[in-house]
Amino acid sequence: MTDHRTAPTATAATGPATTTGTATAAGPGDTVDLRTVDLDTLDLADSATFHGTGLATLWRRLRDERPVRLQPASGERPAFWAVTRYADALAVYRDHERFTTEQGNMLATLLNGGDTASRKMLAVTDGAKHREMRQLMIKAFSPRVLGKVTERIATRIHRLIGQARERGEIDYARDVADSIPIHTICDLLDIPEADRAELLDLSKAVLSSDTASPDQTEMVTARNEMLLYFTGLAAERRARPGDDVVSTLATSFLGHEEVVYNCYSLIIGGDESSRLSSTGAIHAFATHPQQWRALKEGLVTADSAVEEILRWTSPAMHFGRRALADVVVGATLIPAGSAVTVWNAAANHDERAFHEPERFDLARTPNKHLTFGYGTHFCLGSFLGRAQLKAMVESVRETVDTIEPRGEPQQVHSNFMYGYCRLPVAFG
Ligand code: HEM
Repeated sequence: MTDHRTAPTATAATGPATTTGTATAAGPGDTVDLRTVDLDTLDLADSATFHGTGLATLWRRLRDERPVRLQPASGERPAFWAVTRYADALAVYRDHERFTTEQGNMLATLLNGGDTASRKMLAVTDGAKHREMRQLMIKAFSPRVLGKVTERIATRIHRLIGQARERGEIDYARDVADSIPIHTICDLLDIPEADRAELLDLSKAVLSSDTASPDQTEMVTARNEMLLYFTGLAAERRARPGDDVVSTLATSFLGHEEVVYNCYSLIIGGDESSRLSSTGAIHAFATHPQQWRALKEGLVTADSAVEEILRWTSPAMHFGRRALADVVVGATLIPAGSAVTVWNAAANHDERAFHEPERFDLARTPNKHLTFGYGTHFCLGSFLGRAQLKAMVESVRETVDTIEPRGEPQQVHSNFMYGYCRLPVAFG
């Protein structure tokens, strides 16, 4: 990998603490029963909570009993609000005057004093500066660039699924999903093939962990390594611009740090979320054979299947804001200065917004899920997120006849991302 010059350092969405928190109700190694857990002692900052039994029931209990719940302070860790109903989630996302991202947009940064990339990286910038930066990023994602990238997505996925079908028994997460989004984003940024494997390893350490006790130093080092990498790349592209997103950003009005943070944000925004949605889709097909048959037999379209996969998997469980004024959400007053988390994973299963939300229904319509967020910060990579899933759905439908589970999947450890980092299945 290339590496050069001074890089911005990270605590940014970049911050540590994806696994912070006191254990909810069980000791180490125990699994919490979320169907009966005391809502007073529940800890939504603790990654162990999301390994509990009956997560769907917990989200329903919160929506019904504590739709806008205050997670009390714990030791050094400040309190925060958790919003779980669909209508309340929309209200927070819509209200960009009174809710800001600039002091962090996820628990890791909201609870740790903010984000070092504030007002330098799109996701943690608001107001006129956000609009200006977003316009530039949209311009960088030109139809020409996206066209080339999407073509490669289809070819790559088709090859990987074909190889997986030949092998039969695979770990879908490692053997297929790992290799898709990192190459999509690297194609977008025109990153040399030789550097991609290392970037994937770094990306895997940034937001979640495959182990229950991740090494925090390793996580911070991974973020800094990635920033250092983009520092070098931005300098190279400024000197010799090409037809890629890094070149567009590096030759724009953005300052050096802003270019580096925004390149970094495309990897952390788009890699793990896309990997987990793809793995979650195969898990859902394996555990809902009738839905898989309906897809296979052409009874549902790939487009509607993609939307239901996005709703069902909700890989980014929450996003967050800080309240700039007193705001009433639902029937609860959230005081100015509060950290507020919006749980897309819960809102996407709200029976007030979705008919039979616990049914995986590939024909579901309408399907106005919040998986890509809503409003001014709506996911910039939604087109690519959808394109990757669509190519995967079309390719498995064409190449694979049966999908069967082969042992227990392994879940990532995080209070932010949800999904599987190991998924043993048999493709027949
Ligand atoms: C299934 C895959 C994906 C999911 C679930 C996802 C989810 C999200 C969500 C929920 C937000 C809104 C955050 C907020 O409101 O604070 C967001 C923003 C963003 N996403 Fe994605 N994303 C995905 C794929 C991608 C990809 C592939 C890229 C890049 C190539 C990307 C880049 C971004 C960026 C840059 C933002 C910030 C937009 C802004 O603040 O204006 N995402 N994403």
